[in-house]
Amino acid sequence: MSLKTALCDSLGLDIPLMQAGMGAYRGIVTSPELVAAVSDAGGMGCLGGAGLTPSELRDTIRRIGSLTARPFGVDLLLPAKLSRPDGTRDAIRREIAESHPQHWAWVQGLFDRYDLPHTHIDMEHATTAELTDAQADVVIAERVPLFVAGLGDPGPLAARIHAYGGKVAGVVGSVRHAQRHVQAGVDLLIAQGSEAGGHVGTVATLPLVPQVVDAVAPCPVVAGGGIADGRGLAAALMLGAQAVWCGTAFLFAEEAQVHPIQRDQLLSGRSEDFAATRIYTGKTARTFRNEIHGLWAKTGLEPLGMPHQKVLMDDLLDAARAAGRLDIVSNPAGQIAGMLHSVRPARKIVTDMIDQAVACLRHGAALIERPAPAR
Ligand SMILES: Cc1cc2nc3c(=O)[nH]c(=O)nc-3n(C[C@H](O)[C@H](O)[C@H](O)COP(=O)(O)O)c2cc1C
Repeated sequence: MSLKTALCDSLGLDIPLMQAGMGAYRGIVTSPELVAAVSDAGGMGCLGGAGLTPSELRDTIRRIGSLTARPFGVDLLLPAKLSRPDGTRDAIRREIAESHPQHWAWVQGLFDRYDLPHTHIDMEHATTAELTDAQADVVIAERVPLFVAGLGDPGPLAARIHAYGGKVAGVVGSVRHAQRHVQAGVDLLIAQGSEAGGHVGTVATLPLVPQVVDAVAPCPVVAGGGIADGRGLAAALMLGAQAVWCGTAFLFAEEAQVHPIQRDQLLSGRSEDFAATRIYTGKTARTFRNEIHGLWAKTGLEPLGMPHQKVLMDDLLDAARAAGRLDIVSNPAGQIAGMLHSVRPARKIVTDMIDQAVACLRHGAALIERPAPAR
């Protein structure tokens, strides 16, 4: 069964389905096997590269290239507003302890509350412009077919990516943001609604997508946020999108590396359990609500900027992971997780979604063709 849009042709895809980049802890969610499986199924697999060092990123891109000959993408976070553009984690830790003693003390208190050793994450880099520039250099040197900027402006990189024939996409959460990206030279936009997992804006997918489609035409738009089956795919195409960008759906893929405790949270969580918070990175992100969210709310503290808030929390999360306390670790996922209750191979997720979308679109056409009832 075939379902294709003009964007499929320009990206070299057989179907209008993209697996979203998910740059969670050390890039483990979007494993090379997941990315390759989605690309091999005719869609676009996408590595979430944000949590990888430049050399890890290079190795992972090469591993994906060894698993599939089909096009794939890499998503990086290029945060526009940083509370500090460079610096090591140690320097940022010292800055937090000196300038934000209440934040620092709160997190140290959590180490004690959960009986965790006061260790530091074994990773020197933080999300700074220094790191993201080096990551982008790797993606360009490896000539990755699709570069996706999850946060921030990919415009300054567009010419270098176009020079080797690559395409550039920007993830946007508002019409204004979309217009800025088009002016900066992106080839396609991913309009991601606020019900999505990970970093989110405030506008939901249903109002966002048609407004972005109208505002940036003829630039192709991909719909993301809350789409995990063929009904969502068919609806997105009817809103004017040319493909879908699905993250949460692929957290339920066998190839995604998700810890069993976090998988249980995903399998049993209701849509309302996936809440937006700034605790983990300083920017609003949707993640499974755990005990830490309530404790933070009681402090009345404002989150720090990026990368300070992330550096503040990463040591705690790393220690919790090492102690097997995944129940208190950030588990980003979108509201659509409430609809998903089983883990399947990525290829099956893709083919089920396409088959169901085709059935929905046929059903929609049949509604028009139905004869009027005899009076
Ligand atoms: C676990 C997880 C990690 C994510 N990490 C990133 C990231 O590193 N970069 C990015 O642009 N978006 C990230 N996102 C957002 C996705 O790329 C995508 O926009 C979103 O998942 C789509 O909505 P959905 O979750 O409802 O399918 C993440 C989402 C999840 C669930």
